[in-house]
Amino acid sequence: IRKGALEAIAGTKAAAELDALRVKYLGKKGELTAVLKLMGSLSAEERPVMGQMANEVRAAVEKAVEAQSAILEKAALEAKLKAETLDITIPGKEVALGHKHPMYTVLDEIKQVFLDMGFEIMDGPEIELESYNFTKLNAPESHPSRDWTDTFYLTEDSKILLRTQTSPMQIRAMEEHGVPIRMISPGRVYRKDEVDATHSPMFHQIEGLVVDKGVTMADLKGTLNAVIKAIYGADSVTRFRPHHFPFTEPSCEVDIQCHKCGGKGCPTCKGEGWIEVLGAGMVHPKVLRNCGIDPDEYSGFAFGMGLERFAMGHFKISDLRLIFENDERFLQQF
Ligand code: PHE
Repeated sequence: IRKGALEAIAGTKAAAELDALRVKYLGKKGELTAVLKLMGSLSAEERPVMGQMANEVRAAVEKAVEAQSAILEKAALEAKLKAETLDITIPGKEVALGHKHPMYTVLDEIKQVFLDMGFEIMDGPEIELESYNFTKLNAPESHPSRDWTDTFYLTEDSKILLRTQTSPMQIRAMEEHGVPIRMISPGRVYRKDEVDATHSPMFHQIEGLVVDKGVTMADLKGTLNAVIKAIYGADSVTRFRPHHFPFTEPSCEVDIQCHKCGGKGCPTCKGEGWIEVLGAGMVHPKVLRNCGIDPDEYSGFAFGMGLERFAMGHFKISDLRLIFENDERFLQQF
C-alpha cells in the first residue's frame, strides 16, 4: 500500500486527482482503513506490530499528500502568473494627435514680430459696450456700421454688443494703461455677414496702437512696412492709400503688391494687382481726448489687420470657410 500510494501521489497533476487519492487511501472506505478493520482477526502478538505499521503508512501518506498539495498549488500559481503577464511588446493603440491650426501658426509669427519690436500683447472682451465699440471711437450716431442689420446687439437698448472690430481695445489700452503705449491685441470680431469664400460672421483681427510724444505718420509707415517685410518677405512691395475711419485722421489702407503677378493683375488678386492687408491711421485727437490724453502733448497711430486674410495669403488658402470648418483633410496639410 505504501509504495503504491506514494508513487501515485507524486504522479498527480491536479488538486482534484490528489484529493481522490487521499480518499482512496485514507478515507473511511479507504485501503488503509480496511487494513485496520481487519486488526480484530489478528493474534495478540501480531496486532501491535500491524498497528504500528499501519500508523506509519498513514503518517507517510498524509505527509506525501501535504507535500504534493504544496507543489501543485505552487505550479498552479506560476501558470496563472504566466498567463496573466502584461506583454509589453504588444504595440499600443495609436492616438490621433492634433497640431496647431494654420491660422494660429500665422498669428504666433505676427505676435513674435511685434514682440521683437517691443510691443505688448493685450486681451479684451468680445462682448463689448456700445460706447467702446463706437462712441469713444468717434463713430457718429448715424454711422452705418451701427445698424442692427450689421451689428449683433445683445440688448434691446443697443448698449451691449458683440464687438465688430478690435478697435475698442485702443480705448481700453489708453484708459487702463495710460501713455506711452505700444501694444497689439488679437481677437475675434463679429459682423452680420453672409458666409462666402471671403466673409464670415466671426473672424479675427489684430489691433495695434502706439501712443507717445512725437509719433508721426512716418513711424506708422516705417513700422507697418517692417512688419509686412518680416511676414511676407524682404522683397514685398507696399502701397498706402488714403481712406476714412472715424477714429483716425488721416487714415489709410495698406495694400501689398500681388506676389503672383507683380502688380499686373491675376486671379489671385482678382485682377487688381494689389491685395489689401490692413487699415490704419493717426489716432484722431478726439479719441485721445475721450481717453483723457492731451493731443497737444501726445500723438499716436493705430492699425487693424484681418488675421484670416494674412493666413490665406501665407498658406495660399483660397476659401475662408476652410479655416473654420476643421475638416481634417484640410488641417492635415499644415
Ligand atoms: N477697425 C478697422 C476695421 O475694422 C481697422 C482699423 C483699425 C483702421 C485701426 C484704422 C485703425 O476696418
